Amino acid sequence: VTVEQIQRGRSVLPIAAVQNRYNVVDRKHDEVVDHCAAEGIAFVPFYPLHGDHPALAEVAARHGVTPDQVKLAWLMRRSPNVLPIPGTRSPGHLRENLAALDVELAGEDVDALAPE
Ligand SMILES: NC(=O)c1ccc[n+]([C@@H]2O[C@H](COP(=O)([O-])OP(=O)(O)OC[C@H]3O[C@@H](n4cnc5c(N)ncnc54)[C@H](OP(=O)(O)O)[C@@H]3O)[C@@H](O)[C@H]2O)c1
Repeated sequence: VTVEQIQRGRSVLPIAAVQNRYNVVDRKHDEVVDHCAAEGIAFVPFYPLHGDHPALAEVAARHGVTPDQVKLAWLMRRSPNVLPIPGTRSPGHLRENLAALDVELAGEDVDALAPE
């Protein structure tokens, strides 16, 4: 959904959360993320683990984690209203995804992950 659609929707009823496609390489909805943050609306990125940025391996190695954990850490650092819900059928991946809560990316990591 777009910012304009969110505004129209909110003229009729409250909106608690928005879900758009968004991940470290697909940032088309940056404006929606920022609008939701300013308005206190949760933003749930779908396909949070999709996308392959060339700097992911380097950032992951710097932190001793996996590239998928970096993708989740990047989303959570993006804004406090961004709430990724990665899909998995693997208990091991579930544990890794939860551990991404403890990955703290630095400014240099975020710079390295900037759009190409
Ligand atoms: N609004 C919409 O139109 C829309 C569209 C699509 C999806 N969604 C929602 O978005 C959420 C996620 O969608 P999704 O599951 O398709 O995409 P996703 O979370 O980006 O990716 C899931 C894929 O990543 C793998 N994976 C998960 N954790 C991993 C890890 N730690 N290491 C390596 N691989 C890992 C999973 O395989 P394993 O099972 O092997 O872990 C699975 O193949 C869901 O809540 C879904 O309902 C919404």
